[in-house]
Amino acid sequence: MTATREIPFFNYRGTFAAIEQELTSTFHDVLSRGAFIMQKDLRDFETACAEYLGVKHAFGVGNATDGLHIALRAAGIQPGDEVILPAHTMIATPAAVHFAGGVPVAVDIGPDHMMDAATIEPAITKRTKFIMPVQVNGRTCDMDAIGAVAKKHNLTIVEDAAQALGSRFKGKLAGTFGAASAFSFYPAKVLGCLGDGGLVATDSDAVADKLHGLRDHGRDRDGEITAWGMNTRLDNLQAAFLHLQLKTYQNVIDYRRDIAKAYHEELGTLAEVTLPPAPDADPRHFDVYQNFEMEADKRDALQLHLKANGIGSLVQWSGRAIHQHPKLGLKAHAPVTDKFFTRCVMIPMNVLVTRSDVAYISQVIRGFYGK
Ligand SMILES: Cc1ncc(COP(=O)(O)O)c(C=O)c1O
Repeated sequence: MTATREIPFFNYRGTFAAIEQELTSTFHDVLSRGAFIMQKDLRDFETACAEYLGVKHAFGVGNATDGLHIALRAAGIQPGDEVILPAHTMIATPAAVHFAGGVPVAVDIGPDHMMDAATIEPAITKRTKFIMPVQVNGRTCDMDAIGAVAKKHNLTIVEDAAQALGSRFKGKLAGTFGAASAFSFYPAKVLGCLGDGGLVATDSDAVADKLHGLRDHGRDRDGEITAWGMNTRLDNLQAAFLHLQLKTYQNVIDYRRDIAKAYHEELGTLAEVTLPPAPDADPRHFDVYQNFEMEADKRDALQLHLKANGIGSLVQWSGRAIHQHPKLGLKAHAPVTDKFFTRCVMIPMNVLVTRSDVAYISQVIRGFYGK
């Protein structure tokens, strides 16, 4: 088969070209007001995010890695505290723990590729103080099971919701289950900005007071410096770009869910691949499909075949789980994750992918397996 189309994995130029006029007028509006740091656009966006999430406080930050770092600190992490997190996550998750003074402890994932609550309890020691579930690929973990372990062992939950704005478990939004959470607005995210950006959310006034200073040089609401703080503020301009897109965010989620459904219709019965759960597979979950990450037989050869046919694909986190970077020294007994990383691959999922693209991609995949 010759490549009859080009379907890149990322299509930033296309994504932003689709809203170029609105972005440009937002850019001119913000520049004409000279409003760059901690201005009204940021405050308005934070208010809109807090309303969207149904929490009392949201703070725009430089990126989700900083967001997780300050969320842990605001939630009271102490030097040497152990934080249990899944092995299938970006290195940013344990890095945030490390820089907050904690010790990341990686556990395994379950068949749905999410942190497996059953693996948490055996990893608990006297030093364990936090669980950091990762709402990976736009799906929310089984927070009933994780919440039960946290409650039993008196552990604080801080969520890595970097990939999951709008995702729900039993109707409750990702990022609202613990003491605090962080979201990413990296351009590839379902809600992405034009550079780096992130958000920290909390329903606790005490945690919010700390976050306020931690992201802005330790300044309290009166401008007095009351603690050591970082400089990790979401740019006002980025907040304005994000607020613009938040207004139609539900359409984006609906679109991605429809593309996921289309992949299931096309590939759901193909034995050589295991797809992520379908949009309607489990009524407890509402997924936003940040990624469409599947498992595939002969994964590496499949990627080459996709490439030869003009289709971009990607293996997440450069193909390694967090305990597979020897120089970082993180160890984990995570057989499900280990196997998963020999098979996982993400195929195109964004608002520029059409149902016709899905048919083409699926035909190429079926062709690879001789089906
Ligand atoms: C699960 C997860 N955690 C943390 C991060 C870090 O986010 P950021 O790039 O905004 O620092 C990412 C970003 O891709 C992520 O996917």
